[in-house]
Amino acid sequence: MNDAVLSHRDIDALGARAETMITELGEISAEPGRLVRLFLSKEHRRAADVVGSWMRAAGMAVTEDALGTVRGRWCDPDERTGARRLLVGSHIDTVIDAGKYDGPLGVVAGILAVDRLSRRRRRFAFGIDVLAFGDEEGSRFPSNLSTSAAVAGKFDPATLALADRDGISYGTALAAYGKNADDIATVAYSRDEAAAYVEVHIEQGPTLEARGEPLGVVSGIIGQNKMQVTVEGEAGHAGTVPMELRRDALAGAAQLVLAIERIARDDAVDRMVATVGRIEVLPGATNIIPGRVTFTVDLRAESNDRRRDAMASIKAQAWEIVETRGLQITFDPYHESTTTPCAPELRKLLATSIAGLGHRPFELPSGAGHDAQMMAHLCPSAMMFVRCRDGISHNPNEFASPRDMGLAIAALIGFIERFDPDRLEAP
Ligand code: GLV
Ligand code: MN
Ligand code: MN
Repeated sequence: MNDAVLSHRDIDALGARAETMITELGEISAEPGRLVRLFLSKEHRRAADVVGSWMRAAGMAVTEDALGTVRGRWCDPDERTGARRLLVGSHIDTVIDAGKYDGPLGVVAGILAVDRLSRRRRRFAFGIDVLAFGDEEGSRFPSNLSTSAAVAGKFDPATLALADRDGISYGTALAAYGKNADDIATVAYSRDEAAAYVEVHIEQGPTLEARGEPLGVVSGIIGQNKMQVTVEGEAGHAGTVPMELRRDALAGAAQLVLAIERIARDDAVDRMVATVGRIEVLPGATNIIPGRVTFTVDLRAESNDRRRDAMASIKAQAWEIVETRGLQITFDPYHESTTTPCAPELRKLLATSIAGLGHRPFELPSGAGHDAQMMAHLCPSAMMFVRCRDGISHNPNEFASPRDMGLAIAALIGFIERFDPDRLEAP
């Protein structure tokens, strides 16, 4: 009835192809010696072209949307397919000094699954679109999942005004990439067309490895808040202003950073995590008391209520700290997402496909954000995780074995074989 039973040799061959393709993409970087591939950069362009050529070789018709998302469209060769599409995707942008698997694995898995189904002339009552998103990491602009947001019909036009570290706006970078912001409204799929979305991704944590399982089914993606905080004091001479008369913005910010860490640690049972990942000190000289500090806060938790409570506690602590120290503070929130459960019917299908390969379909939540979170606004969405070594990610030491990646692609093929768009509930 289906092609779900692949031989060990098939699985190893798929894994080896995935490794070769991911390595080729991993060499497309803005910097020698480390992987940096930011949204709407020259490297994004090169990676998108390579992905497009792979999609074509796998039998797909390739287009690119108004935000640079590469779309490979595969239809039933007999054209019995109808309008409904199964969307399979992930992203090709990276963090700074990235590992090569975060994102590309999901794109390559989609391409290799279609390649195999297409070569075997498999026929389905739905088409398959493989999507390579470009702004999952938010590493260039303080944006969040903007390319999948557009595909889901959720793009916020205010995003166009966001500036990168060099002061270049999202809108300007988009125009330089050859796109027209007026076309963004055309990017969204209709709900009738998008039957479901599925994403393969490395786990980016240690759970599957600890359980001895190569693959996992994601139960849901945890919610998060992101904001920029600015603390203002008064710049002054480092040699002449006595300690008790200073209004040192960095000392106040440092106190707040530790308070944020404590708030998250106190709620660790809820998988709450808080990170201050970027900080800028002005004027930034050895002999000047810092007058102004800006830093980012990334707060995540499974419970939406507890995450919101924690945001309120962070702000309350901040007001207390700045008042005691004679400082001023402003909060600029730029992202909030609620915890998104993955679609139960799709989770079951993924579990059946993993079990069909002789593995236990272990369920686990995702602490990382993913395009699937945005796609869940459009259609039932789900994710499969792949074990990664030592749980390391957002780090050049990130690694998933070819064998595990081959298994993931085999499970994705099994999922596609079992998928029935008529047996899904709309989100
Ligand atoms: C993306 O990797 C994120 O979770 O921040
Ligand atoms: Mn990712
Ligand atoms: Mn990432």
